[in-house]
Amino acid sequence: MFSQRIDGHTAPNALGELLARKRAAGKPLLDLTQSNPTRVGLDYDGAAILGALARPGALVYEPDPRGRPEALKAIAAYYHGLGCPLDAAQLFLTASTSEAYGFLFKLLADAGDEVLIPTPGYPLLAYLARFEGVRAVSYPTRYDEKSGWTIDLEVLQALITPRTRAVLAVSPNNPTGAYLKSAELALLDDLCVRRDLALVVDEVFADYAGPQAPHERLGTVAGRTRGLTFVLNGFSKLVALPQVKLGWIAVSGEATKVRAAGQRLEALLDFYLSVAGPVQHAVEVLLAGRNAIQRQIIDRIDANERWLRQRAAQTDHCHVLRREGGWYAVMEIRDALGDEARVLGLLERHNTLVHPGFFYDFRREGFVVLSLLPPPGIFQAGAGHLLA
Ligand SMILES: Cc1ncc(COP(=O)(O)O)c(C=O)c1O
Repeated sequence: MFSQRIDGHTAPNALGELLARKRAAGKPLLDLTQSNPTRVGLDYDGAAILGALARPGALVYEPDPRGRPEALKAIAAYYHGLGCPLDAAQLFLTASTSEAYGFLFKLLADAGDEVLIPTPGYPLLAYLARFEGVRAVSYPTRYDEKSGWTIDLEVLQALITPRTRAVLAVSPNNPTGAYLKSAELALLDDLCVRRDLALVVDEVFADYAGPQAPHERLGTVAGRTRGLTFVLNGFSKLVALPQVKLGWIAVSGEATKVRAAGQRLEALLDFYLSVAGPVQHAVEVLLAGRNAIQRQIIDRIDANERWLRQRAAQTDHCHVLRREGGWYAVMEIRDALGDEARVLGLLERHNTLVHPGFFYDFRREGFVVLSLLPPPGIFQAGAGHLLA
């Protein structure tokens, strides 16, 4: 009766089962997977946010498949601030970045076609592709202590088949925190042009640079490529308001392809009209508040990371990998435990939740991923158990 798109994704894993048991027993948890910015004690300008969402204009239904022109103008101004002269006509609103991926897969791929996605990487991408009948094929990114994470372009190239439609990159990547470098982008762009592939770059964490960010960090990939390129972003990270539900697609590259993609995207979006009116009226005000909330998040993340690095350096078995940006720390742990046993033991004995590396497709055992967002008291207590 049911499609195969969601086959096998409903059964809970061992960590999920243990977590459900802990929660049912009412155990307070030290949750170091917490990625919800509205639950970590940040100081939001509540009056400004609620005021922006309660504009009288929101009482009128004015459907526009691309989004309200004033909202598009405000987002275009954000890109101008990053040095990219993007036109509002190159922008398309969606209800989230995840939804934006869904629209792009519908736009670019037929059932059975393939898209290339980075590993280690955010597990959501493969699911979103699968839900559109598209096969996600993983390409490797490799780590070394001096240069951090880089894309293995040779392997990526070898993975291209006649069914490949797009290369996806996440900059900075989740969870590795690696930004796409300009030399990497140039090679990817060249490859995509030669093989007639679209390039999709997810920049939801782009504004969250860490102390180890590369000097030549690109503000955005939008407007920097020759080939057809889709840059994704949205409010869940950019202004730390995942509940207002706004994402967007910025289309750039070769003009005729940009036009053709835009016409098709607009036609697709017209069938859904999924972006709520109140948020479209609030875009300019919510974007204007981004610096204040981003500052708090960056300070929190940097402080938690500093503490973690200091403590890990005092052990001989834990090492925090380079983090150029984003909200997560990747820690390598050299001990006799397997990843699953480690995270289960930590939750069972210390009520501390972390993600094992295999959730993100790390190629070998020995990695955990920690969100750097939790308040320092929770972070230090939980990470202290892990380090011990
Ligand atoms: C890399 C990346 N892209 C997209 C998303 C989803 O964003 P949205 O809430 O806009 O769907 C996330 C969420 O954590 C993410 O980590």
